[in-house]
Amino acid sequence: MASEVVNTAESLDFPADLKYLPGFGNHFSSEAIAGALPQGQNNPLICPFGLYAEQISGTSFTAPRKLNLRSWLYRIKPSVTHEPFKPRVPGNEKLIADFNQSNSSANPTQLRWKPVDIPEEPTNFIDGLQTICGAGSSYLRHGYAVHMYTANKSMDNYAFCNADGDFLFVPQKGRLWIMTECGRLEVIPGEVAVVPQGFRFAVSLPDGPSRGYVSEIFGTHFQLPDLGPIGANGLAAARDFLVPVACFEETPCPNYIIVQKYGGELFTAKQDFSPFNVVAWHGNYVPYKYDLSKFCPYNTVLVDHGDPSVNTVLTAPTDKPGVALLDFVIFPPRWLVAEHTFRPPYYHRNCMSEFMGLIYGNYENHMQAKADGFIPGGSSLHSCMTPHGPDTKTYEATVACGENAGPYKITDTLAFMFESYLIPRVCTWALESPFLDNDYYQCWIGLRSHFRKEDCSKASSNQDAD
Ligand SMILES: [Fe+2]
Repeated sequence: MASEVVNTAESLDFPADLKYLPGFGNHFSSEAIAGALPQGQNNPLICPFGLYAEQISGTSFTAPRKLNLRSWLYRIKPSVTHEPFKPRVPGNEKLIADFNQSNSSANPTQLRWKPVDIPEEPTNFIDGLQTICGAGSSYLRHGYAVHMYTANKSMDNYAFCNADGDFLFVPQKGRLWIMTECGRLEVIPGEVAVVPQGFRFAVSLPDGPSRGYVSEIFGTHFQLPDLGPIGANGLAAARDFLVPVACFEETPCPNYIIVQKYGGELFTAKQDFSPFNVVAWHGNYVPYKYDLSKFCPYNTVLVDHGDPSVNTVLTAPTDKPGVALLDFVIFPPRWLVAEHTFRPPYYHRNCMSEFMGLIYGNYENHMQAKADGFIPGGSSLHSCMTPHGPDTKTYEATVACGENAGPYKITDTLAFMFESYLIPRVCTWALESPFLDNDYYQCWIGLRSHFRKEDCSKASSNQDAD
């Protein structure tokens, strides 16, 4: 229980020594004032200090216990105290939560985007969020969306609430200060954060111009992947996930606005207080963050290039065993040691679809054959059964190195992938974007035949001689 710090309105900035609670899937408890949590029951007639009790559920009440997610918030005023929701003017027409022919296209081509410019006009996180691709529908509670944000302005006097799904934030440039109802999360590039469906939050940008990636999942929540034969340890450790501690503000906030994303559309509701008025909370439905540098990667130690699933940080499951609605996979610094093996990713066509981003460095920089065009802040999409793999430079540099590569450590790079079983539709504006690299296909056009037919003849004649 985090009762050592009294986080009141005066301390709602983001100090360098921000406190967190460690763990993943725990039942957490946090008090900004000691004694604020009711003991022995969730919903007493009168809560300590006259607080209101309010539950937020992330699963149906009757979900199996191992999947059941809910938290109890003890707050100065309940969330319901606001004026009616109205459509936000202006909305954000580039946010999609129901993918269909009116807003997106089927496109099997290999797609790659350069980093999107950060606007110069004042733009906050809500207005700077744009959907790139996705599948399914938030209404049907099955699907996902991939967004990017570019922003330069903090959210001031209003909060965002995503009724459609969970957000996974992957900042690429600039820190995020995410104020949530459970407390504060500071997220720096190289860290990720999850704010589950329904939590109210506000994003501040202490570094000014900021850019990053967001995946959104409808109808399920992120879990740690099973480790199978890896054993009981490895990949992302539960204890390295960090959950905020309770803090609150109680000063009047006239004309405070809640912006609710509901079915991909934005609505606003006015209230006269901050939604960050939770003095204590307990439960297992919580925002959290994770430092990707703590990931313990596994890899081949003799031959062949392993499948990228081995570096899954978080997975959002479907009802089919082993099939993900969305996997979050990283390609962190690591040693490459495989013998007589083509070490870069093999050429492949997958039934899953892959959206990739680069947080910093050069992707697969181990051959010093910098893949042209995939640079930090950029992205690529290789959809279901669309072939892809190393570009011509990387292939030629790899084979030219022969068997003499030796152990090599990939450093100073961090790429990631959102991988889904559902086939994404690509938003119209993403296909019309000036940042779309129309020459992407050229990186493979130079791949030439290395087929040596004369060797076949020799092998054949040797066989005849035998
Ligand atoms: Fe791939």
